[in-house]
Amino acid sequence: MKHLTWLITLITLIMLSACNNETQKNDVVLTKIEEAPLTYILPSPKTDGKMSVEKALAQRRSHRAYQDKALSAEQLSQILWSAYGITKPVEDNPDRPSSRPSFRGGFRTAPSAGATFPFEIYAIVGNVSGIEPGVYKYISENHKLVRVIDQDVRVELRKAALDQMMVEQAPATVFWSAIFERATVRYGDRGRERYVCMDLGHSGQNVYLQAEAMGLGTCAIGAFTDADVSRVLQLPAEEEPLYMMPVGYIVVRQ
Ligand SMILES: Cc1cc2nc3c(=O)[nH]c(=O)nc-3n(C[C@H](O)[C@H](O)[C@H](O)COP(=O)(O)O)c2cc1C
Repeated sequence: MKHLTWLITLITLIMLSACNNETQKNDVVLTKIEEAPLTYILPSPKTDGKMSVEKALAQRRSHRAYQDKALSAEQLSQILWSAYGITKPVEDNPDRPSSRPSFRGGFRTAPSAGATFPFEIYAIVGNVSGIEPGVYKYISENHKLVRVIDQDVRVELRKAALDQMMVEQAPATVFWSAIFERATVRYGDRGRERYVCMDLGHSGQNVYLQAEAMGLGTCAIGAFTDADVSRVLQLPAEEEPLYMMPVGYIVVRQ
């Protein structure tokens, strides 16, 4: 009987140790890959938190003034994941490429009409610990950032956004462009006129709620000059600028 108790204790300890190792393996920290273009693997996002979704909904407001305080890489990682992070990886079928739309990595934190996932997501980084200022493309598939512009563009982006100061003040801004063809090739005008913007609302609301749950603030911005924003961010011709959301520590709770 005594031996059996020892054996059970030993097996439990081995299993607990295996679980801990598993947790550590998944717990990626910010990793800078020294290559051109500069690439960062982002810290693993959390899938649990202290604030209930009900409380985040009840408290959410648009905040337009931020403290001069850096975000951590973990905070930026979490915000980007909430916008468009992969939650269920799906591999495209190379044998039947035209059988369904490309999942570009899989299902995400936000729904998308027909899983067409029309957005490209960027992080405009000004003051984030461990990440050099610049403009980065967020690659959902590997939860990483790839630099596309190697300078702080916040002042230029503020000017392109009708001088809305929050764009210059915020330590980081999430930006959405859309490749409308991903939706129109399947849904025609309905994709362009309805589905892309519906998708955008889901992704943007995720950022509002995630920011709230992390004690941060954000504000949706749709008012800007398209051509100026495209120029400042050097967007490829196929991408249309749609939305931006600065994120930072708020000054006054609204
Ligand atoms: C599509 C869209 C575009 C918006 N554009 C701007 C903007 O350019 N500038 C701004 O200060 N607020 C903008 N807002 C935020 C709204 O003004 C805000 O959501 C509204 O006043 C309600 O306040 P609340 O978000 O605190 O509930 C936008 C919101 C949405 C949904």
